[in-house]
Amino acid sequence: MKIIANWKMNLPTPNLGSWTESFYQNVSLQDNKSIGIAPPFTHISDCIKHFKDIRIGAQNISSETEGNRTGEISAHIAKDSGASFVILGHSEVRENFNENALLINRKIKLAIKNYLSPVVCFGEPQDIYKSGDTEDFICSQLKECFKDIQADNIVIAYEPIWSIGTGTLPKINEISEIHSSIKDYCINHLKFKPESILYGGSVNDENCSNLINDKYIDGFLVGGASLKGNSFAKIVNNSI
Ligand code: 13P
Repeated sequence: MKIIANWKMNLPTPNLGSWTESFYQNVSLQDNKSIGIAPPFTHISDCIKHFKDIRIGAQNISSETEGNRTGEISAHIAKDSGASFVILGHSEVRENFNENALLINRKIKLAIKNYLSPVVCFGEPQDIYKSGDTEDFICSQLKECFKDIQADNIVIAYEPIWSIGTGTLPKINEISEIHSSIKDYCINHLKFKPESILYGGSVNDENCSNLINDKYIDGFLVGGASLKGNSFAKIVNNSI
């Protein structure tokens, strides 16, 4: 997957039907298989009906297989509802639910076991960015989260926490360097090659064109700018 919409706890405005219409009216791509949408859980099956050619995914899963986990969704249930991928380790989940690397590791294993492609997010807080320690920070996250995991369908999203929803991005060469380090670390230390390495954080239909020209940026994980069908379509048009 190259371009993924993360709708978070929002529905596109004004509604799914008009999002679909404005997306398909504006998108020029013939084959939308490399595009994903992660709606709130309750809208997964609705989205599957609306978007026959786009992959639909979940925004999280439980770290347990089943049982007394009120409010949680297992990998199996997410798969059963039609999801084909799952976003894991998003900084908002890490922060709001105290999700640590051990839990993320368990979730990645459960996703793979249940045929959900994992889209795993990594990103540094602003103080780490400012101190120039981003690469070490991300590599140690990679090491912990991917312990004993190798698969050929893992998508990695680099999302600097301070860039999410702020309109501020790292410089392209900084993103490029981190993506290149992520790729090297996965291949040389973790012994798997990520399917793709996406960038996430304040991506919009204007800045995506420059970003995608970088050889280490394979695509995007898009939050706010994916909530309007036409702006998400433009990101797809300018990036694939
Ligand atoms: P924004 O595109 O709104 O910055 O969000 C990025 C993100 O968190 C995607 O997962």
